[in-house]
Amino acid sequence: MSNPTTPAQTSATVRSGIPAVDRYLGTGYSLVPGMSSRFAAAICCGLLRMQTAMGVAGPVAEIGPFEGRFFIALAHALASGEKALAIDLFDWPNPEVMGRFEANCAKHGVPAECRIAWKADSRRMRPQELLAKLDGRPARFIHIDGEHSRAALTQDLELATAVLAHEGLIALDDMLHPGYPTLMVAVHEYLGRHPEMCVLCIIDRETVVAATKFVLCRAEWFKSYEAKLLDAYKDNVWPLGADFEPHWCLVLSLDTRLAEIG
Ligand SMILES: C[S@@+](CC[C@H](N)C(=O)[O-])C[C@H]1O[C@@H](n2cnc3c(N)ncnc32)[C@H](O)[C@@H]1O
Repeated sequence: MSNPTTPAQTSATVRSGIPAVDRYLGTGYSLVPGMSSRFAAAICCGLLRMQTAMGVAGPVAEIGPFEGRFFIALAHALASGEKALAIDLFDWPNPEVMGRFEANCAKHGVPAECRIAWKADSRRMRPQELLAKLDGRPARFIHIDGEHSRAALTQDLELATAVLAHEGLIALDDMLHPGYPTLMVAVHEYLGRHPEMCVLCIIDRETVVAATKFVLCRAEWFKSYEAKLLDAYKDNVWPLGADFEPHWCLVLSLDTRLAEIG
């Protein structure tokens, strides 16, 4: 944690601790078109490293991988025999986006046997269909970055929760974003419906495009993950934390300063 006069860090100094991920973050991430922050990618893959060390195994999935920027980082964090599933309409801004996704994965070292690209609408997907794509194995990490409406996020959250491993994590993109204020309403309603779930941490934004992410986990796993995050990312802990009334969670940021007073 820094003192009030310490300047903000850059995300280039933040690592996942997985060599393949950190190589990609250093040399490939900015070359792949996309909208997720490098800081968040490092921390999310750091969480995948912690899961592997805890013995948590299983596939990872992303709703809305677009051209693969964040997805490739997740895929480099897989343990042996695990797969990453990419669910996207793959029609925006044109149908060629699926080819660009595949080419980016190949160029940045994600083997074909480790990845599944599924051209599908998450809003019409049933949990059984998604689980079948994962060979029946619950997902240990799901990144939700699809349609940015309150209704779609509500549906994607329910879908993700239904296929999540017990110790699994759900990351949500574009939280607290000025352009998507109603996504927070969907999150609060979801937390009300699912008292077994809580926000593990808020990963602060880098820019308005590389926006804030929330990471959710089952409440019984909160303390275990929190202790590991505090250990690995102590320089990024914003001292006041976040109040979800009554639950508090970590805020991880590149700028841990407080306002100077007095
Ligand atoms: C903001 S982009 C995601 C950026 C990407 N995750 C990254 O980190 O660079 C949103 C993606 O969600 C996809 N999408 C939107 N609605 C969807 C839906 N209902 N089902 C599946 N994908 C959807 C879009 O096609 C688009 O590729």
